[in-house]
Amino acid sequence: MSSRYPGLFITVEGIDGAGKSTHIPYIESILTKEGQKVLRTREPGGTSAGDHLRELLLQHPFTPESELLLMFASRQEHLQHMILPALSDGHCVLCDRFTDSSYAYQGEGRGLDNGIIQKLEEWIQKGLNPDLTLYFDLSPELSFERRAARNQNVPTHDRFEDESIHFFERVRQGYLDRVRQQPHRFYVVNSAESIETIQARLSEFLRDWLRYYNITDRHPMHG
Ligand code: ADP
Ligand code: TYD
Repeated sequence: MSSRYPGLFITVEGIDGAGKSTHIPYIESILTKEGQKVLRTREPGGTSAGDHLRELLLQHPFTPESELLLMFASRQEHLQHMILPALSDGHCVLCDRFTDSSYAYQGEGRGLDNGIIQKLEEWIQKGLNPDLTLYFDLSPELSFERRAARNQNVPTHDRFEDESIHFFERVRQGYLDRVRQQPHRFYVVNSAESIETIQARLSEFLRDWLRYYNITDRHPMHG
């Protein structure tokens, strides 16, 4: 838990095309209305070195092992230079993807050993985990349809987006395993529903969740 820090750490996860980019500005607006000072960021990326790594990772055909190590190199820079200082300063860090992506994509998608990912996680995060993860769950079939509509006439240059439907079935399974293993941390969004329905559910859930954290005083959220 990040409960040793004054700020809240919230991550957003899901397969490519599940709706994260669509909903993150809305999530940020709710958190801000509820009095949080939000730092919005993403992985891979979030720092200057991380953005260079992101560009490389999305384009260069690395081996799965190098891909995993570079994801964690980007994460280490991000944690030390952005996330931890912001949490210490009482900011709510809203991060598009974090270590659940490594378990889902490099673990299940690429078939790397989860034990190695866990070792890297322990080494780099030293017990820090998101307080809350909003997981956007969608079938690969629907995500492919939505991405095809989104990417019309826009070349993506994204190696992950070029992966097969079978790859994304494994990645989705990886996410669902994470939800089963750590149910207290996840809120699962059924991304097949309409944008309006999802927003209504997110708004209700986030307000309740923030209230719960206030009442139980696990986070001194308002100073
Ligand atoms: P991600 O950031 O997870 O890759 P996006 O937010 O870009 O996904 O969503 C992919 C596409 O699906 C976008 O064109 C977006 O407008 C559309 N979309 C997102 N959520 C929904 C939804 N609930 N219903 C219909 N279309 C959606
Ligand atoms: P991104 O733009 O976040 O994906 P989306 O299309 O959903 O908006 O692209 C980042 C890609 O990096 C995404 O395909 C997932 C991948 N990734 C990993 O494979 N492992 C990781 O640990 C992280 C953080 C991302």
